[in-house]
Amino acid sequence: MSISDNIRLFPKHSLVGEIDIAPDKSISHRAVMCGALANGKTVIKNFLLGQDCLSTIDCFRKLGVKIEIENSTVTVFGSGFNLKKPKEVLNVSNSGTTLRLLTGILSGCGFESEIDGDESIRKRPMSRVTEPLSLMGAKFEFINQNFCPVKIFGNTLTGINYNLTVPSAQVKSAIIFAGLRASSKTVLAELQSTRDHTERMLKAFGAGLKISGKNIEITPVKDLKATSLIVPGDISSAAFLIAAALITENSKIKIKNVGVNPTRSLIIDVFKKMGGDIVLENYKDGLEPVCDIIVKSSKLKGITINREIPLIIDEIPIIASIASQCEGTTVIENLQELKFKESNRLDTIFNELKTCGVDITKTASGLIIKGKNKIKGSNFKSYNDHRIAMMCAILSLVAYNESSIENYRCVDISFPGFFEILQKIGIYK
Ligand code: S3P
Repeated sequence: MSISDNIRLFPKHSLVGEIDIAPDKSISHRAVMCGALANGKTVIKNFLLGQDCLSTIDCFRKLGVKIEIENSTVTVFGSGFNLKKPKEVLNVSNSGTTLRLLTGILSGCGFESEIDGDESIRKRPMSRVTEPLSLMGAKFEFINQNFCPVKIFGNTLTGINYNLTVPSAQVKSAIIFAGLRASSKTVLAELQSTRDHTERMLKAFGAGLKISGKNIEITPVKDLKATSLIVPGDISSAAFLIAAALITENSKIKIKNVGVNPTRSLIIDVFKKMGGDIVLENYKDGLEPVCDIIVKSSKLKGITINREIPLIIDEIPIIASIASQCEGTTVIENLQELKFKESNRLDTIFNELKTCGVDITKTASGLIIKGKNKIKGSNFKSYNDHRIAMMCAILSLVAYNESSIENYRCVDISFPGFFEILQKIGIYK
């Protein structure tokens, strides 16, 4: 590895060993948010100290919440819903989850605030969140039509009945947080299921949520009760290492303590459908279920994926890249939401797979990948998108010569230590 912003990567023969995976990003964000809104002390163990979650901590500190970090334990001293008017712009940096959920939280606070972020955040659509929040009575001001920076004029909110037409856990969560402060009940109907970490966590903090099928009823609460929790490993981060073990020869890895919430674990079924030799053991239920995942090198085959995309939305880059090593063709459809991620992932997946010689076609909202490609070592671009950088790193393991990834440090957004783990468990050819 070099220490510049470009990393050099060499093909590896196999991956062998036991891994402690990075803590879950979605759950780490929500733990800070719920802790900040609760009365009392919330202790969060195994918190993800990645850039995105640190942005959430930074924003809540600016809103007057005392938060301490000691190793991977974060302690939040919540003061109920009494957030303070921030003296400066709340900078979410690259974090879409912070942006959307915080917008929901601040909509019901009695002060004016402003949120901004980096270049990628300024390209991520906000109308999907501000439209339903406006129906609740929130007020917003944009300089650049529905894109950050956004000014939020906190207001007294009323509950709404709302159909979530955009399948997004961020939108759903923003409305749930706003609904907690409203003067009447909010009822949400999801047309497609999305990750349910907000619902699970808020219940643990004592919020009145009723869930039946894809409907969520939020009863406003006076306060949330501080609680303590341990964040499980992130299945979206684990997916990159699972994929790496599947496509490299003579590999066997065990990833410990991975969160397998059913709204996140569809990726395991997808890998298995492709022929992946994956065994889950040591299952433990709790606020979020966890288990260990054992993966061996496998002969993979192409599949068609066109349903339940929201449940594997973060895993499309890695599915597309291992499709290049499958026997047969993989077709992935209904990927319109991929355009609104840290990069336009429909384009960036296509570009980088094409660069290294994969037979890939891009349709209006899908990807078609013909399998059994020889991967040529390439100068990959990350587009400052953590999941694209990790996708390229996994491809480089099966390339026939050396690769590099530009601006590889963006992996710290969700998986600090990613390259170190690859180096530790990888055995060079
Ligand atoms: C997230 C929801 C998803 C996902 C993102 C994290 C969350 O985004 O892509 O990485 O923590 O709620 P959308 O809700 O926009 O699909």
